[in-house]
Amino acid sequence: MNIILFGAPGAGKGTQSSLLIERKNMFQISTGDLFRSAIKNKTELGKKAQDYMVRGELVPDSIVIGMVEEVLQGQKKDFILDGFPRTVAQAEALDTLTSKMNIKIDKAIFVHVPKTELLGRLSGRRVCKNCGAVYHLKAKPTRKPDVCDACGGEVVQRPDDHESVIETRLKAYEDYTSPLKEYYKKLGKYFEVDGNQASESVYGKIEALLN
Ligand code: AP5
Repeated sequence: MNIILFGAPGAGKGTQSSLLIERKNMFQISTGDLFRSAIKNKTELGKKAQDYMVRGELVPDSIVIGMVEEVLQGQKKDFILDGFPRTVAQAEALDTLTSKMNIKIDKAIFVHVPKTELLGRLSGRRVCKNCGAVYHLKAKPTRKPDVCDACGGEVVQRPDDHESVIETRLKAYEDYTSPLKEYYKKLGKYFEVDGNQASESVYGKIEALLN
């Protein structure tokens, strides 16, 4: 089954995707991770995306859609789209792409978390610079301060998790991504899970939708 996981910044899309990869052998397509990797490797794509991301704005649709098309080519495993689509134009482009490639998107799962909780999750999130493992100062601290449990890499705050940028990201979500709920309801593909519970409980709800 191929799914879209969508929700506000900090809703737990990345956390749930990691569990689905580990337990269901699914493939994650995270546009945010692809951009961060392109920035780290100083590619042309990274140069185009960097300024938008630092400001907390969405990267233009044309750049995102081209990147996703490349990743979808030849995809054999069941996949999770994490952070894409994020606008109605991206959703329409995805429909065109998938029908051209003869791929089906089965469900669009919205992970609902209230704004007050999102602020705490984003400002407390820390990530490993080396392997990308995700931590939280309170909910999931590293064993040694600022050192990744998994690989020993340095654990830092994402530049777009600074408080001044978080508000811009949340506004972009409200303005452009929230309308996707109606879009997928009309297609009969919309499902919602309560993301304001322990990660394992959220996973249980998502897993039930896959079965
Ligand atoms: P992206 O990387 O996709 O960021 P995002 O959507 O803002 O989502 P996050 O990664 O912030 O949060 P998440 O939902 O994955 O939460 P996580 O699991 O980490 O995008 C970044 C930027 O790239 C965008 O702003 C934009 O510029 C650009 N971009 C990307 N895609 C684009 C697109 N399609 N179009 C245009 N531009 C695009 O969890 C967050 C924290 O909470 C962690 O610390 C975690 O440990 C903790 N946590 C998770 N689950 C729980 C739980 N159940 N209980 C308690 N804590 C939890």
